[in-house]
Amino acid sequence: MNNRIAERMSRLGTETAFSVSLEARELACKGKKIYPFHLGDMNIRTPKKIIEATKKAMEDGHTGYCPCAGIPELRGALAKEIGKSRGLKLTKDNVSIQTGGKPVIMKFILAFMNPADEVLYPNPGYPIYESQIRFHGGIAKPYGFKMSGKGFSLDMEQIERLITPGTRILIFNNYHNPMGTEANHNEMAKLAKLCVRHDLLVLSDEAYFDITYSGKAKSVASYPGMFNRTVILYTFSKKFAMTGWRLGAAIGPEWMIEQINRLNVNDESCSNHFVQWGALAALKSTKKETKKILDTLRKRRDLACRLLNEIKGVRVFKPNSTFYIFPDVTDAMRNLGFDDVEEFRKFILETTGVSFCTRRHFGTPLDGEDREYIRLAYSGIDLKDIKEGLTKMKQAIENPEMAEEWRKNRK
Ligand SMILES: Cc1ncc(COP(=O)(O)O)c(C=O)c1O
Repeated sequence: MNNRIAERMSRLGTETAFSVSLEARELACKGKKIYPFHLGDMNIRTPKKIIEATKKAMEDGHTGYCPCAGIPELRGALAKEIGKSRGLKLTKDNVSIQTGGKPVIMKFILAFMNPADEVLYPNPGYPIYESQIRFHGGIAKPYGFKMSGKGFSLDMEQIERLITPGTRILIFNNYHNPMGTEANHNEMAKLAKLCVRHDLLVLSDEAYFDITYSGKAKSVASYPGMFNRTVILYTFSKKFAMTGWRLGAAIGPEWMIEQINRLNVNDESCSNHFVQWGALAALKSTKKETKKILDTLRKRRDLACRLLNEIKGVRVFKPNSTFYIFPDVTDAMRNLGFDDVEEFRKFILETTGVSFCTRRHFGTPLDGEDREYIRLAYSGIDLKDIKEGLTKMKQAIENPEMAEEWRKNRK
């Protein structure tokens, strides 16, 4: 038999964070206590009201197919919610329900990118952008971020420099994974003007729009000239602690959403029917519960940032959004004699059980990057384990003999 695999499969990437999960699981099987900071999954329960509404939907017989764009009730409620939070005028025809936020990335690329189109995407960034651009024959052009005294910000000059006549699409992830970066009003306005001037279509990944701890979140889709060229990636996963339910939406102008709906018919037919009734309850009546989720995350963020900043050679800015922290560990690595951040990660994992990703899980470092970073997610670990894990990490980082010993034992 000829094991023929399509040529395009060689261009498909992955989420390497899952391989860190696997390593951590193997160590756990050997009896090691693991402190899971590696995945953006949540150990917070989905609010009861959502579970009850979903159960009721199943008992009421909502177990068959539903329209490919989603049930009109949920599309209408989401149009209202997103319209209000982003200052947009939307109807249900602007909403296409999806099986999570992630499918919006592939469907957007499939519907609006031709082979050889140039697509700008963030690096560090969610790895699926590059994977999907390359898989479908586009030219992936990464843009980076600048570090300042206040944290990370978009490198606007670089974005502008990267645009050529072949550039068709910009992927923008405000409230950014992995850095927790948040663009301010001036940056968003400038970015919007660039998109309009160069006639770019935009995928605005707003997976963390609602995980903002202070101030009012903004969408690039609300800026002049933007709505008609932008698809918003929305997900129920984070705000409502529903990562495993797999429900999200593509939200945008009708001409774009119609194309996404055509892909729905050809792919999943429709998203899980009864889950959509649970999501409707989530939108209608969980204000108190979602505030509680955010309060829980805020406490974790504050504790983790404080403890990380107490470690010699580690420096971190407290992000105002997402549930990720992106500390600079360059000096800690140097003090311990590590050149390779992957080695540093393995040393910490194997000696302390603290499991995290590094900057390299979010793209190949760009020219000029001279600092090393790691990413810790605090969505799946409670306060007690954050304290215990980061205390062990401090002991390991501040003890060069431990690193020496670990290196010797590996040989
Ligand atoms: C930036 C970003 N976009 C999209 C997603 C996908 O979200 P979902 O789990 O709803 O598919 C994630 C998930 O972690 C993410 O971090």
